[in-house]
Amino acid sequence: MKLNNPKFQSRPAMLRGWLTASSAALLLGLSMGAAHANEIATTICAACHGADGDTPIAPNYPRIAGLQKEYIVKQLNDFLSGKRKSDVMLPMAQQIPPDQIETVAEYFSQQKRSHGKAESRVVASAGKVMYNAGNEESGVPACVGCHQPKGAGFLSSTGIYPRLSGQQAEYVKEQLKAFATGERSNDQSRFMRTTAKRMTDEEIDEVAQYLMGVDD
Ligand code: HEC
Ligand code: HEC
Repeated sequence: MKLNNPKFQSRPAMLRGWLTASSAALLLGLSMGAAHANEIATTICAACHGADGDTPIAPNYPRIAGLQKEYIVKQLNDFLSGKRKSDVMLPMAQQIPPDQIETVAEYFSQQKRSHGKAESRVVASAGKVMYNAGNEESGVPACVGCHQPKGAGFLSSTGIYPRLSGQQAEYVKEQLKAFATGERSNDQSRFMRTTAKRMTDEEIDEVAQYLMGVDD
């Protein structure tokens, strides 16, 4: 197409040379970013989250595969600033070169998210009702309103609502309890602190069991 254009043919060698060099540089630039993110994932993050971010080593460690890139960037920055406190994650976030935070987040956001299996189907179905309807009596809002059907999560001008589908039940329970006590306080507009404070331990368990088994 473009190479058939007479203008291009009048300066063929120089132009072809330039095109090759610039596309090589572009490819190299892109793959270097990916390679670096890959290296950080396999040398640092893999030890706890799995290299794919989907195979955490402990039941209370999160799957980070398939979380939105913007959410991962926010959490890493919150760990770094101390807005979200974790003795485990702070030193890990500090090992990521600041200019690689975006590429590492991109890498994990693109990994495949799988899911586990609820321990009890009865408990999980109670959790599904809770997730979709909340508890009007105690004022727990429906999770679906912010986290979307089946916990798919979404981004909007009002906030970053993380994917919850398939997340490990023990991790979800710990986070909800941490929001309830205020130990985790990096949620904008206190959305999660207000919500979790109104939930009973039983409701927390139910919703966590539901989410663990769900595929969005
Ligand atoms: C030594 C174990 C360990 C290593 C290594 C580790 N993490 Fe974590 N990560 C955790 C734990 C535990 C949590 C949960 C922290 C909490 O309780 O709030 C977590 C939480 C996170 C979260 C928040 C997830 C969410 O759903 O909010 C992100 C994002 C994350 N880690 C990314 C990374 C990245 C990127 C690396 C590699 C640079 C990494 N982690 C290395 C243990 C680890
Ligand atoms: C008004 C909107 C809103 C509602 C309603 C809501 N959430 Fe959230 N939730 C958020 C936001 C925003 C965050 C991200 C906080 C942050 O930036 O760290 C979040 C984070 C979470 C997290 C932590 C995720 C992680 O990976 O660490 C869990 C678990 C959670 N929500 C569960 C629930 C459950 C269960 C319900 C229903 C009982 C619910 N949420 C209702 C807005 C909401």
